Amino acid sequence: MPASPRYKSVAAYNHGAMLLHWLMAFLLVWQLVFGYLMRHTHSLPESFIPVSWQIHKTFGVLVLLLALMRLAWRFLYKPPADLPIGKAEKAATQIVTFLFYALMILVPLLGWAIVSTSSRNIPTLLFGNPHLVWPPLPPQFVFISHSQAEQAHTVLAYSFIFLLFLHICGALKHQFYDHMPMIARMVPGHILQAQKAGKSAFLLLFLAVFCLAAVMIYFGFVGTQQEGLADAAARAAAATGFGNAGQAADYR
Ligand code: HEM
Repeated sequence: MPASPRYKSVAAYNHGAMLLHWLMAFLLVWQLVFGYLMRHTHSLPESFIPVSWQIHKTFGVLVLLLALMRLAWRFLYKPPADLPIGKAEKAATQIVTFLFYALMILVPLLGWAIVSTSSRNIPTLLFGNPHLVWPPLPPQFVFISHSQAEQAHTVLAYSFIFLLFLHICGALKHQFYDHMPMIARMVPGHILQAQKAGKSAFLLLFLAVFCLAAVMIYFGFVGTQQEGLADAAARAAAATGFGNAGQAADYR
């Protein structure tokens, strides 16, 4: 359905913003559902438990990296002009957006703090690979205890559900009650003209985040070698093979 003439001047987000938005939406829903299943492990097969911890940590690190990329993208390209909505609704939208950005950074950081303050010293292996070790946070950067980090991670992770609910309700209200092309702003198509954004800017930003991840992985790998954790990494990697039973608590 083409946009009504009233919205002819309204632009959609650019394709970079759309890609980051939908990737993040998928990862957040995945992390919430999977995080819940993983913690309440009677719903997962025993042999899958150690795998599940590494999957959760890997995807969580991806959320953190994508959130940084999204934040940088937002500074590079201002979102398209708002649709004509009331002041109160606009304020509510801005608060929800701000909280989304805050939680997209805070929740993975708190997850990272949990594993960094754990006495079990189980390395975080990205994609279960013993050579892709994500390092723990240096102790001087962790300002909360292990149990505080666990509580905060859980409470803030589940508050995503509330934010997602508000966000989806708002979008549906504008789309179907106010008859504004709200959904078309975030999906590629021909209803609204997408904002222009350089493909090279996206690639450069992607490369920057990739390099950041590579530097972290380098420090993670060196750290495991120096602290004699190479064996632990190898064991954790072996345990992430399907069919190897393990205790949930051992792999956080
Ligand atoms: C936005 C990203 C993330 C989301 C939405 C998320 C979500 C969740 C959820 C829903 C739970 C289950 C809480 C419960 O019912 O007890 C959980 C637990 C956990 N997550 Fe995450 N998580 C994210 C990122 C991370 C990261 C990056 C790490 C570590 C590198 C991590 C490590 C953990 C750990 C260790 C637990 C268990 C906490 C406990 O034992 O109480 N998470 N997460």
